[in-house]
Amino acid sequence: MYIEEAKNFVGQEVEIKGWLYNSRSSGKVQFLLVRDGTGIMQCVISQNDVGERLFKDAEKVTQESSLIVKGIVKQDERAPGGFELVIKDLTVVQIASDYPISPKEHGVGFLMENRHLWLRSRRQWAILRIRSTIENSLREFFNERGFILIDAPILTPAAAEGTTTLFETDYFGVPAYLSQSGQLYMEAACMAFGKVYCFGPTFRAEKSKTRRHLTEFWMLEPEIAYITFEENLQLQEEMISFVVKKVLANCKEELKIIGRDTKPLEKVDPPFPRIHYRDALEILRQKGKELKWGDDFGGDEETLISNEFDKPVFVHHFPEGMKAFYMKPDPLEPQTVLAADLLAPEGYGEIIGGSQRIDDYNLLLQRIKKNNLNLENYKWYLDLRKYGSVPHGGFGIGLERTLAWIAKLPHVRETIPFPRLLEKIYP
Ligand code: 4AD
Ligand code: MG
Repeated sequence: MYIEEAKNFVGQEVEIKGWLYNSRSSGKVQFLLVRDGTGIMQCVISQNDVGERLFKDAEKVTQESSLIVKGIVKQDERAPGGFELVIKDLTVVQIASDYPISPKEHGVGFLMENRHLWLRSRRQWAILRIRSTIENSLREFFNERGFILIDAPILTPAAAEGTTTLFETDYFGVPAYLSQSGQLYMEAACMAFGKVYCFGPTFRAEKSKTRRHLTEFWMLEPEIAYITFEENLQLQEEMISFVVKKVLANCKEELKIIGRDTKPLEKVDPPFPRIHYRDALEILRQKGKELKWGDDFGGDEETLISNEFDKPVFVHHFPEGMKAFYMKPDPLEPQTVLAADLLAPEGYGEIIGGSQRIDDYNLLLQRIKKNNLNLENYKWYLDLRKYGSVPHGGFGIGLERTLAWIAKLPHVRETIPFPRLLEKIYP
């Protein structure tokens, strides 16, 4: 039996294969908190039931030792989780000695060095289960809507999101880069399949230490032929609200373990407010932050703006040239581009970046040159504007930032099983 299925086994004899999470003893009875990956269950062992030898064996089981227990499942309101196992037999698989993470408080540096073990603790368990739910519900959202999953390459010859954050590797004597984004490839794919998405790891050599930046993070990127800018924003708000609802429905216990107040999440229904970049500057000015037209927002600015709203908020129409080379100018307002960032509430800031893409050959050529990109590497990308070019757009949602917000975590380092940060690649 897995612990999460305990309610189906009340009164029956079962076997649980797991590890000792914690234990306490009161003379002739010991309470073993056993975890099996699906949950934690209190298992009671008494000398009268099992005899002295087994009882003594149980006393030797240390934290994180592996063990198999057999016993009867009992419903018990006082037990954590509502069920308890009355142990009849116990087999020790391996005794763990000096497990480094004791139940006392540890510093983050120490825990990060022991990330491979830290994953076993209840809070990390809860966070990464929410991550799994978010990933699955994102896939479900796009699969239900007929999107085709197209896997983007990781080794790429050129930059998608600026040349300053490229990780270079040696590809048989020529430089290649770890992918910053699958977008350019999704643009090719959407001309073949209509609506597509990729979901994979992306890499950026971010040289700043912040609570929002990883050097390896996961991004889901849909791309849709013939979509309009407004339809693109609607897709994003429907997706976010779908994912939040799935987490609220499927991760009740996990949210409780991490102490997440779910009230703010219950408000996340479309439509989300939309504010023009110009008005975002005005909000910042009122808060005492003077930015010039064309200045990009950092984490602090995003926090100030998102704190103004109790739902995610779109900031749209950034000045032309401020963001990526492929963004399409708005014909009605050519000094700006048809792009939007979605800022998460509660001060979290950007979780999505999206835009309409330039579909005109000559304009794209001009932008590639203006950004000093090597034209040779973008010939295939320009081809897409030569052979049946159509208006199209899409976006990228960062999984870790989305999870940081939904779980209300202070830092992205807990949102990914093995975080890669500036100066951090172990374990
Ligand atoms: O805004 P970005 O750079 O957009 C793109 O990469 C586009 N090509 C997406 C597209 O239109 N297909 O990144 C998108 C999202 C951000 O909003 C953020 O959530 C996440 O990716 N992100 C990061 N997450 C963690 N660490 C980093 N260093 C991140 N950089 C971006
Ligand atoms: Mg962005």
